[in-house]
Amino acid sequence: MSAREPSAAPLVLGIESSCDETAVALVRAPGEVLGHALASQGETHRRFGGVVPEVASRRHLETLDPLVIEALARAGRPLEAVDAVAVTAGPGLIGAVLVGVSYAKGLAYALGVPCVAVHHLEAHVAAALLAEPAPAFPFLALVVSGGHTSLYRAEAGLRFTELGRTIDDAAGEALDKGAKMLGLPYPGGPEVERLARGGRPDAVAFPRAWLGGRSDFSFSGLKTALRVHLAKARPDPEAYPDVAASYQEAVVDVLAAKAVRCAVAEGLERIVVVGGVAANGRLREVLAQRAGAAGCAVTVPAPALCTDNAVMVAAAGARLLDRGQTADLDLDAYARAPLAEARR
Ligand code: KG4
Ligand code: ZN
Repeated sequence: MSAREPSAAPLVLGIESSCDETAVALVRAPGEVLGHALASQGETHRRFGGVVPEVASRRHLETLDPLVIEALARAGRPLEAVDAVAVTAGPGLIGAVLVGVSYAKGLAYALGVPCVAVHHLEAHVAAALLAEPAPAFPFLALVVSGGHTSLYRAEAGLRFTELGRTIDDAAGEALDKGAKMLGLPYPGGPEVERLARGGRPDAVAFPRAWLGGRSDFSFSGLKTALRVHLAKARPDPEAYPDVAASYQEAVVDVLAAKAVRCAVAEGLERIVVVGGVAANGRLREVLAQRAGAAGCAVTVPAPALCTDNAVMVAAAGARLLDRGQTADLDLDAYARAPLAEARR
């Protein structure tokens, strides 16, 4: 007898391996999480102060098989119950993405089920669509991660129009680099947040790049300002919480202000914030206050669904599968590709 559940909504296995998290999830369309397993490589890369691409690829290779077994065991389903395999096809570290794509294609072929190619940023947005109640399209999506900081107009069908982006560092990158200067380990975002809890956000006047009201972002000047502050003011370690809180505040202030202004200008009543930096408590707090004052609602996924995970890949995959957007076996991994072109 087949293990498939023909009358039920399809079971989608999601695979994420685009950077330093390996993750596998089994989701019943459109978004019921049946099982999720994740192996963070943070410890592995920590001693290098950042992600080493070749090391990341090898770790993905080692951990994918056990994670598939673990996710299915948690879901209480056999491999044969899987109706489709969704995978992050990019953007990301090309070797890392390639491991996931090759694995997903092989698995889908062996099971005789479709493979669905997901753009990493549409997966991040799909995490927010799992909220109860789900945010209605159209909305403004603020995507803030280690590699991206962008504003999009999001329409039904996971179609995105880019309204602004960083012209240099991503917000997560600014936090990671700032953390390193403060002697904190990688990944720096959560470490800065932790240290900042004991500090005053107005202690150091770090600069904000407003870019003349544009919806673009710039964080490289802020990073330089931190370097200069540490070299010139030479704060002693007791003052580091103040420095961390002020640095975090400069990032959060710009993200929140630009997102709200952009939503109002676009006539959008909801802001959806996704990506690793969306896990930041101060960003969630400040954005909720400012958006509320401007008459906008905010949706942010639970912190565990903000950072890279496979639930979001399976959830995006389920939506694409529903629209018949499956991939052929010649599907290739890609290092870069604008989200706005993913579903044209
Ligand atoms: O989305 P993500 O997990 O991976 C990428 O696609 O890049 O985002 C990772 C980024 C890192 O820069 C990390 O420092 C940051 O998200 N991050 C945070 C927090 N948790 C992760 N930044 C600030 N506060 C956090 N709690
Ligand atoms: Zn990500």
